[in-house]
Amino acid sequence: MVIRMDQQQTPLYDRLVLHAGKKPVSLHVPGHKYGLLFSGEERSFFRDIARIDATELSGLDDLHEPEGVIKEAETLLAGAYGAEKSFFLVNGSTVGNLAMILGAVNEGDTVFVQRNCHKSVLNGLQLAKARPVFLGPEIDKTWGVAGGVSLQTVEEAFARYPYCRAMIFTYPNYYGMVYELHEIIEFAHDREIPVLIDEAHGAHFSAGGMFPRSALELGADAVVQSAHKTLPAMTMGSYLHVNERYRFYERLKHYLTLLQSSSPSYPIMASLDLARFYLAQIDRDFINMIIESFLEFETKLMKIEEIRLINNDSNLFLRDPLKLIVQSALGISGFQLQQALETHAIYPELADELNVLFVLPLAPIKNSETIVQTLARIFAKAINGTRRQIDENIVFDVSKPYSTLACSYQEMMNMSQVSVPFHRAVGEVSAEAVIPYPP
Ligand SMILES: Cc1ncc(COP(=O)(O)O)c(C=O)c1O
Repeated sequence: MVIRMDQQQTPLYDRLVLHAGKKPVSLHVPGHKYGLLFSGEERSFFRDIARIDATELSGLDDLHEPEGVIKEAETLLAGAYGAEKSFFLVNGSTVGNLAMILGAVNEGDTVFVQRNCHKSVLNGLQLAKARPVFLGPEIDKTWGVAGGVSLQTVEEAFARYPYCRAMIFTYPNYYGMVYELHEIIEFAHDREIPVLIDEAHGAHFSAGGMFPRSALELGADAVVQSAHKTLPAMTMGSYLHVNERYRFYERLKHYLTLLQSSSPSYPIMASLDLARFYLAQIDRDFINMIIESFLEFETKLMKIEEIRLINNDSNLFLRDPLKLIVQSALGISGFQLQQALETHAIYPELADELNVLFVLPLAPIKNSETIVQTLARIFAKAINGTRRQIDENIVFDVSKPYSTLACSYQEMMNMSQVSVPFHRAVGEVSAEAVIPYPP
């Protein structure tokens, strides 16, 4: 249930503005002294934000033991998302995943985890000294993208590892694809297993309407969201929500305090307050305006011969309309398209062998005609100038629905390492994670 009551308020942001309005004399950290020490060109960039870059002064509360405006802001956040308790995070979903996992997982616990997860999930499992069982995702071959895990895979893995203590999934994936999470959560809950969700890319799902259902709504016990990815929040600003089923609240709080800075950024926290406000104000009319604008944008793009959109020709996954997956209809790789776009100062979120991914705003698109015209020119030029075949050798190994580590994390730490050429690495234990990055 989403509580809209009082969602007009932005207590933390308001208090910071009030504080800045006092023209405070800073005899405290941070050292820029509300921006006074910026003197050159940077001053114009930092000046305004520096005025609210305060610290834990009287009246500004303390993220680690909130009793005032931060507590109020977090309570509003929980209300907006229908969570039992919500936290502001100042070190991204990265810290949320670490704390969520450390809170719920004990040393030696068997934990199911979606194989195509973010490295922070893997790092969390390593820190917790868990025994992960990696669940293979479903693959959309047209788009060459790994999606979510099927219920069948979870059932098969559970038949083999019935002493599973927690399940961790990524929902949606980077490309905005979602899957039958509800059934999986039910399966886990019927067996008293907590479900932890990395919903880094879905902080906006609870706006409802055309967006997929949020993991919290689907019953997840704990959910981490990068507010900065799809809501108007500053980079690193994220949320962590737990519902009443989550039994590890005190441990979670402990780990959040342990892992986050003792000087959390007030601009980031204020932006989290404002991002929650933005989300809570979204009503049916605004959603309709967004849909209309996206449809118009997509229709225009689909008229360009050289562009192929994921649109609805993938039956395997539902997708988040904020994510637009674009391919060249003529076989130019996503990496090359990205390069061509960047030479015109258009920066997509990511590229892979086949696709480029655009993240659209949670608002009607401005200047869509201009963007479309520019894209049309770029795609056409890319075809004339830089056509190259996509690597046909991409192989998706889906032979194993689940797998485990070759040895425990502790054993791995004590092993010696040796460098070998890639082709000779087959059958060896990888000494470090090999993860495409960025993003
Ligand atoms: C699925 C997923 N989880 C977690 C993260 C980490 O999020 P953050 O950048 O907010 O730390 C990312 C970052 O890209 C991600 O894609």
